[in-house]
Amino acid sequence: MRTLLLAALGAALALPAGRQTPGKPAVNLTQTSVVDADGKRIDVYTLTNAAGMEVRAMTYGAIILSWKVPDRAGRLADIVLGFDDPARYLKGDSPYFGAIVGRYGNRIGAARFTLDGKTYPLAANDGVNHLHGGTRGFDKVMWNGEIVKDSRGPSVAFTRTSPDGEEGYPGALTMRVTYTLTARNELIVDYQATTDKPTVLNLTQHSYFNLAGEGDILDHELRLNADRYTPVDKTLIPTGELATVDGTPFDFRKPTRIGARIGSEHPQMQFGRGYDHNWVLARSGGGLSLAAELYDPRSGRTLTVSTTEPGLQFYSGNFLDGTLTGKGGQVYKHRSGLCLETQRFPDSPNKPNFPTTVLRPGETYRTQTIFAAGRR
Ligand code: GAL
Repeated sequence: MRTLLLAALGAALALPAGRQTPGKPAVNLTQTSVVDADGKRIDVYTLTNAAGMEVRAMTYGAIILSWKVPDRAGRLADIVLGFDDPARYLKGDSPYFGAIVGRYGNRIGAARFTLDGKTYPLAANDGVNHLHGGTRGFDKVMWNGEIVKDSRGPSVAFTRTSPDGEEGYPGALTMRVTYTLTARNELIVDYQATTDKPTVLNLTQHSYFNLAGEGDILDHELRLNADRYTPVDKTLIPTGELATVDGTPFDFRKPTRIGARIGSEHPQMQFGRGYDHNWVLARSGGGLSLAAELYDPRSGRTLTVSTTEPGLQFYSGNFLDGTLTGKGGQVYKHRSGLCLETQRFPDSPNKPNFPTTVLRPGETYRTQTIFAAGRR
């Protein structure tokens, strides 16, 4: 697909963010635009901080295109999977690389739910189930991009109203997803939404991480702040049980190599073809709490995930199969990347014992997830 660089709109915005050396902006934000072969315009935003990190995101799918992070020797690598050309994503075969997924991220069993006595049928786009918002979820639509300046520094806010009935969901849903890069190497994702009719909602960020920037993620070490997880049936719909991780391959309470138990005979690992489950986060209160820590021993890069959400889907890239060629000609093979999707639990609209995903008029959906990159 041919991509034209239209213009470098708006010179670098140098705004104060956190502690700042005089004369040296802590975080910069620039915007450029590209058009795809069909003439569709996509705006791309680039955030850079004084530590040398760079995050790029675009209006299509509110997708995070890249996140460049130094290793322990200071060498930069892009730690998220995707394509070099922003227009390439419009082809529609991306497995949600970097996107905001919704209206309901993750699965809804039998592709239907009942709310206030009315049943809503949804697209069955994952066997008999509904996945990641349907045939054309929030990852495959154009959002509006807007540069925001607040006390935390410059951010890019993506806004969109999902029309009443879109993909079968009730209510016009007005959303705002903001990406902020801080001088402390955090990528803050703020979600906000309101509706004009009762609806269900579960928004998440679907970046695939590989802290080495290449190869597979089996040698990454993961810690998850969770004593329980939600076991699934063979179609990956939770049974409703909150099971202990004790004595299972799901116990990541201590940092553990992802590859160590991924080949386990545990029936849950067969259903997921590896890790593809929701962990019930151990929370210390209502606010932001530590969910996950990822470490790549070779490069020294680390990633910490904190969230206000009750759950985290750890997906070990089991469906990546070498059919997609991504950045720099890299072929994305089995387990080239992993997702840490902060969220409500899968199939909550059909599971009364799970935390609610219902949003009603007059209420505001507000969640926050912080990805912090580092090295050791
Ligand atoms: C994940 C999900 C996987 C798979 C993947 C996309 O979020 O847990 O089962 O659907 O997205 O390929």
